[in-house]
Amino acid sequence: MRPSLRNNLVVALGALVSAVAIAQGISSYQLCSSGMSALLDLRLEQVATRMRNGYAESIPATPVRGSQPSRDIVITIRKQNAEVPFRSTEPSLPLPEDAPAGFTSEQVNGERWRIYTLREPKTLIQVAQRSSVRDELERETAVKTLWPTLVLLPLVLGAVLLIVHVSLRKVNQLGNEVQGIDVSQLKLLPVSRVPVELLPFVDSINRMIGRLAQSIETERKFIADAAHELRTPLTALQLQADNLQPHIAPGNQERFRELRGGITRSGELVAQLLRLARADAPLPGGTIEPADVAAIVVDAVSSVLPLAAARGIDIGAEEMVTGKVTAIGADVAVAVRNLVTNAVRYTPDGGTIDLRMHTEDNAVWVEVTDTGPGISEELLPRVFDRFFRANLEVEGTGLGLSIVKAITAKYGGQAVIRNRNDGKSGIVAAVSFPLARSAVQA
Ligand SMILES: Nc1ncnc2c1ncn2[C@@H]1O[C@H](COP(=O)(O)OP(=O)(O)OP(=O)(O)O)[C@@H](O)[C@H]1O
Ligand SMILES: [Mg+2]
Repeated sequence: MRPSLRNNLVVALGALVSAVAIAQGISSYQLCSSGMSALLDLRLEQVATRMRNGYAESIPATPVRGSQPSRDIVITIRKQNAEVPFRSTEPSLPLPEDAPAGFTSEQVNGERWRIYTLREPKTLIQVAQRSSVRDELERETAVKTLWPTLVLLPLVLGAVLLIVHVSLRKVNQLGNEVQGIDVSQLKLLPVSRVPVELLPFVDSINRMIGRLAQSIETERKFIADAAHELRTPLTALQLQADNLQPHIAPGNQERFRELRGGITRSGELVAQLLRLARADAPLPGGTIEPADVAAIVVDAVSSVLPLAAARGIDIGAEEMVTGKVTAIGADVAVAVRNLVTNAVRYTPDGGTIDLRMHTEDNAVWVEVTDTGPGISEELLPRVFDRFFRANLEVEGTGLGLSIVKAITAKYGGQAVIRNRNDGKSGIVAAVSFPLARSAVQA
């Protein structure tokens, strides 16, 4: 099992608190019971001293045998050379006459007794108490001292759990923040309320994020520069091919067309690479002029209308929403156009393409539904990958949806592709952009 800081702390602190509580309980139990024992001894001694001072006569000369409660102390006074005790509260108890002066513990009549013996020149005074009664008294009093510890222990353990939980909450929060780092939108972790102990950790993650952002930006710039540099020679090549065409022998025209097709495809790839590099570029500072999505949707439909008409595809926008979004209009246009182009490209002749808009959770959604072949479910999760193409029969660079994803991620929107679930074959491709603060009308 993976080591856990929280578990380690809880176990260690819990064990420490429990050990302290147990040690405290044992010592208070022992101190209290030995204190109680000393008190009981003192009482025996005091009673013996009183007897010496003439109180002995107050004891009845012939007490009823066995009349004394078992918890009481037994007093026996003997005169020198007398056969029977002068006075005894329990005459049936033969306390040992030869016991040394002071305290002793003796077995008498099958029971253990604590005896205090006071020797006077002509008198022997013995005061005794059952050891079992003393033990019980000591135990009862000592157990009472354990209550505060027993009540406090669970409370302190609960406090330990709470303190550990609260102290480690920052670590959990930080873990979630690190886990939530979006590579397409690298942001430094906030350091303002980070505890001192975690600051070096957050600092080094922030340095790493900085380096990562820099290397991503370097890569993006390289792609943009390379695509830009490739554009000029490709355009020149295209022009030269155009000029050459009349001079190509009729037998070679077919192969020459393929050559020109290759040049056109290379040009398209370079153009898509440039669009991807632009989509990946961080947003420029300053305010963004809200974009009118409805106008962009109308433009996108108009731009593919001639091609769709030529192939007998019925394309139209059904439900519209006049709402502005916080995104650069040109970016929204690229995203919407890529979805519409895909729909036209992959829908067979005579198909239908519907565009719908709606607002949901403070975002404007544009949804493009077609009657094409759809995409097999196992390939669906990869359609946003760069250069991924699910259908190799139709030409394309495999970058269109990566561009859509990069653009929506930049503005905090979403891009979703799924197969239709209304029983018809086809794709529902949708993008969303955050709604600008101005009002929305359906
Ligand atoms: N509407 C659709 N119907 C069926 N398949 C689609 C649809 N849209 C996308 N796809 C599949 O997803 C793949 C990726 O799409 P994407 O737009 O990224 O690339 P592309 O269309 O091949 O090339 P590009 O858009 O860069 O010219 C496509 O190759 C195609 O197989
Ligand atoms: Mg495409």
